[in-house]
Amino acid sequence: MHDLTTGPAVGWGPGGPVIVAVCGKGGAGKTSISAAIVTELLRDPARRVLAIDADPAVGLASALGVEVTRTVDDIRSDVIRQLESGTHTERRELLAHLDYEVFEAVREHGHLAFLAIGRPERQGCYCQVNDFLRDIIGTLVGSFDAVVIDGEAGIEQVNRRVLEKVTHLVQVSDGSVRGLTVARTIQAVAHTAVAYEQAGLILNRIRDEAEAQTLAVPAELNYLGWVPEDDAVRRSAMQGTSLLDLPPGPFLEAVRTCLARMHLPAALPATRSRACGDGSP
Ligand SMILES: Nc1ncnc2c1ncn2[C@@H]1O[C@H](COP(=O)(O)OP(=O)(O)OP(=O)(O)O)[C@@H](O)[C@H]1O
Ligand SMILES: [Mg+2]
Repeated sequence: MHDLTTGPAVGWGPGGPVIVAVCGKGGAGKTSISAAIVTELLRDPARRVLAIDADPAVGLASALGVEVTRTVDDIRSDVIRQLESGTHTERRELLAHLDYEVFEAVREHGHLAFLAIGRPERQGCYCQVNDFLRDIIGTLVGSFDAVVIDGEAGIEQVNRRVLEKVTHLVQVSDGSVRGLTVARTIQAVAHTAVAYEQAGLILNRIRDEAEAQTLAVPAELNYLGWVPEDDAVRRSAMQGTSLLDLPPGPFLEAVRTCLARMHLPAALPATRSRACGDGSP
């Protein structure tokens, strides 16, 4: 675990991917903002982007128009079932095969790759399998320029089930006191327990600058900006269309402005994909 008092997070080092985890209160707009971040990162067609849906309800998949056939949890459940009935030799073989299974579960959608984590772990300790899976996701992530993780409310689930470290923690809140309280709690947990380099807060579904000004955002949340209620986003949800097809408009523009305050995507070296060969996982 990274102790923020001792300096910057470990990160993935120079040339490693930018990993953005999106967290916040239920319904605040995590999935919509994650999809907008993916859209923004995909504007450079040379960039390889991996979207990870860490929400058991797989909301990001439908927001991006991706069909999920197999989740990491499906793989985990299959392996555990086989381990419980198998021999010691089979156990080694099964675990050795896990990376292939995870790579197979990645859906390709143009320049976008997609992985769904699935349901939270069930009872029982299968630490070795869990650790293996997290290591495999870590290896997979290293083949991309940028990774966007649509998390559950808190970052600790992302930390436990997906990756131990991210580079950017983006919190999403609506203008409610409850949303900002949840954001403070997530930030406090992240500050002590999770490795990240930068964190920031996006206020979603705000009417205008005057309304944004009335909200007392705690300084420790590193306010990045506000995103308006956008009819195109509402329509997309009502019609079940992919947010990747959203035309340029106030929603995407506002998310872009917020990202720029975290130096994204500028922080991504243009040469990164070349440094990783063809970037294939
Ligand atoms: N800026 C916006 N303008 C219009 N509609 C929005 C906006 N942001 C989010 N919504 C809508 O609000 C609803 C909830 O958003 P979203 O699913 O992104 O939230 P969430 O935080 O991922 O929710 P959950 O916690 O259930 O996963 C969706 O129907 C989405 O279309
Ligand atoms: Mg969601």
